[in-house]
Amino acid sequence: IPVSPFDMVIFGGTGDLAMRKILPALYYREKDHQMPDEGRIIGISRAVLDHDAYVAQALEAIEREVNPDHFDAETWQSFQSRLHFFTLDALGDDGWQPLIDLLSEHPDRVRAFYLSTPPKLFGPISHNLHKKNLITPSSRVVVEKPIGHDLSSAQRINEEIGSFFEENQIFRIDHYLGKETVQNLMALRFANSLFEPLLNHQWVDHVQISVAESIGIGGRGDYYDSSGALRDMVQNHILQLLCIVAMEPPVEFNADAVRDEKLKVLRALRHIGANEVREKTVRGRYTRGAIDGESVVGYLEEKGVPADSMTETFVALKAEVENWRWAGVPFYLRTGKRMPERRSEIVIQFRQPPHLIFPKNANQVMANRLAIRLQPREGIRMYLMTKVPGPGGMRMRQVPLNLSFAEAFKDRFPLGYERLLMDVLRGNATLFMRRDEVETAWRWVEPILRGWEDMHEHPKSYNAGNWGPTAAIAMIERDGRTWYEEG
Ligand code: BG6
Repeated sequence: IPVSPFDMVIFGGTGDLAMRKILPALYYREKDHQMPDEGRIIGISRAVLDHDAYVAQALEAIEREVNPDHFDAETWQSFQSRLHFFTLDALGDDGWQPLIDLLSEHPDRVRAFYLSTPPKLFGPISHNLHKKNLITPSSRVVVEKPIGHDLSSAQRINEEIGSFFEENQIFRIDHYLGKETVQNLMALRFANSLFEPLLNHQWVDHVQISVAESIGIGGRGDYYDSSGALRDMVQNHILQLLCIVAMEPPVEFNADAVRDEKLKVLRALRHIGANEVREKTVRGRYTRGAIDGESVVGYLEEKGVPADSMTETFVALKAEVENWRWAGVPFYLRTGKRMPERRSEIVIQFRQPPHLIFPKNANQVMANRLAIRLQPREGIRMYLMTKVPGPGGMRMRQVPLNLSFAEAFKDRFPLGYERLLMDVLRGNATLFMRRDEVETAWRWVEPILRGWEDMHEHPKSYNAGNWGPTAAIAMIERDGRTWYEEG
């Protein structure tokens, strides 16, 4: 789908996100000839740099982030001709004129203000954009998580941005929604008639959503310690995944229809009260260990983490969606840092067949399972029971029907940001979070945070390189189930 001429202004233009994600994603779109001739990318930062130094920094980042097979001098030439840079303190009143002059050359163009800054700056920068008369009807603003630290701070941030931009101009990024496999989940559910009739309490025993990372917290100790796994991953990415698995079919694939359905799921999530946090949640924190044979330090030894930190780097939860479709079907969620490998997966465990006609051997027939691998080695596996060949009677074995996206599609898998940035420019907010979604997600997360505070206990330890504390295994085993680590 073509993109109209645009000006994209990136505040935090020299920052980590701009260099690691935004510019490489835009470069890939250039490479695939999706960028209109008239498209400018304007980096803004307090850093004192001239244009050439900015271009050099961008080149270095793109060479580092982009697969060498996709880097070529011709694409880079056309990409770099789009780049502009201004040194500007976006909180101050001075120094805006060069940006104003540049943007006023094309007042009617799509204008995207990407606030790649800490959330506390979203409001003040929006206010300044308004004061400088830079917000036009074809403007939009893009913000990143975390949107708030809790419900009231999220409301405050949304309120601030909302005083200067209409809700349909606000694009709240959850980069998981840009991942190919996450969009594929919608295709799987709503472009096939096979699964949809089965996805309910009558046929599904439970659902698991696991997002495991082998990385630690890197240099982000300060941010991470004030956040923790529940705020950093569950409030946004994992709840978004849960919504896509659990939502009713939207009437059409447009922003409000999809987001209305996701919102209903978030509203239906049963709150986990203070007296239930012990039973339905497990917090963990990694200690020293080894990953891929390399030893790594524990969380408390990471830079920027205070010695008395109470922050979790792992969380497992038992969530319940209280509606007609999902009544009684638990959704087990877990995410953690310093796990044995990077692996994100959704597993839908179906029930046992209602009546078994084969000789009674409890281990023989195992219930079907649908495993959707989000990353890496993206694909879908459907585990089916089959008869083992041979004359020896009805011996059964469970085997997977395996769809590997890499094998089925030879094309490069685009980065999540490529799709999302183009959607911003096209004005399509379907894969972005609406204000009410963000706030409803916080409403569910808050009682858990409060319950943990009341408990005042340290998270349970797990050695780096393990799948979390044993209490997480005990939590699901109490229900007679087990976590899957699909191959
Ligand atoms: C971010 C979190 O939103 O998502 C990080 O802040 C996390 O802590 C990252 O590492 C995971 O994203 P991905 O795309 O690597 O799974």
